[in-house]
Amino acid sequence: MKGIVFTEFLGFVAQRYGEDAVDDIIEASALPSGGAYTSVGTYNHAELVTLCDALAQQTGVAVPVLVQAFGFHLSGSFARGYPAFFARCSHLFDFLESIEAHIHKEVQKLYPDAELPTFTVLERTASRLVLDYRSPRQMGDLAVGLIKGSAQHFGIQVRVDPQAHDTADGPMVRFVIDVAGDTSIPV
Ligand code: HEM
Repeated sequence: MKGIVFTEFLGFVAQRYGEDAVDDIIEASALPSGGAYTSVGTYNHAELVTLCDALAQQTGVAVPVLVQAFGFHLSGSFARGYPAFFARCSHLFDFLESIEAHIHKEVQKLYPDAELPTFTVLERTASRLVLDYRSPRQMGDLAVGLIKGSAQHFGIQVRVDPQAHDTADGPMVRFVIDVAGDTSIPV
């Protein structure tokens, strides 16, 4: 997993829980990297899981809640760091549809060793997008936070209903994303 995810995660922890919390979870985690990350480095994904477990332990907040909140935070960092990916879309659903074909393709060019998930659009109407997520890393909660954070960027609110499935190709999460209220997006 790319270091940018780790540096953003520690930034999220510092902002929400203070710098001491960052030191505490690194100390509690006995990480192979020692917790010293650079944004262009590559680290074992398991370290992020360990850090999230340590944060849950120390804060008493459940891991999925923390990971979703981190995803929300990360979408803000992406909007600042990669504004062009947002600017080329005028609607949330266009943006989400572009992750697979455009955004993560460009990310892979920037970071050839990035390990990215797969998104497939199953259905799109003015008020609903159904998106299937597949990844051996199973970071569906991160995706929920990223979707909600991106929605805020595009000025709408969405309900995200994640439905986990076991398929022949491995685990899959189907996100049913509904625009809340009557601010539906023209297709
Ligand atoms: C400007 C927008 C975006 C950028 C620049 C971006 C970039 C990245 C990067 C650098 C990684 C780490 C890859 C690695 O660690 O090897 C990543 C992973 C990931 N991205 Fe994106 N991303 C963007 C938007 C999104 C959105 C909107 C979603 C959610 C629907 C999403 C879902 C994910 C997930 C779930 C992962 C974790 C890895 C996995 O599941 O296998 N990304 N992305």
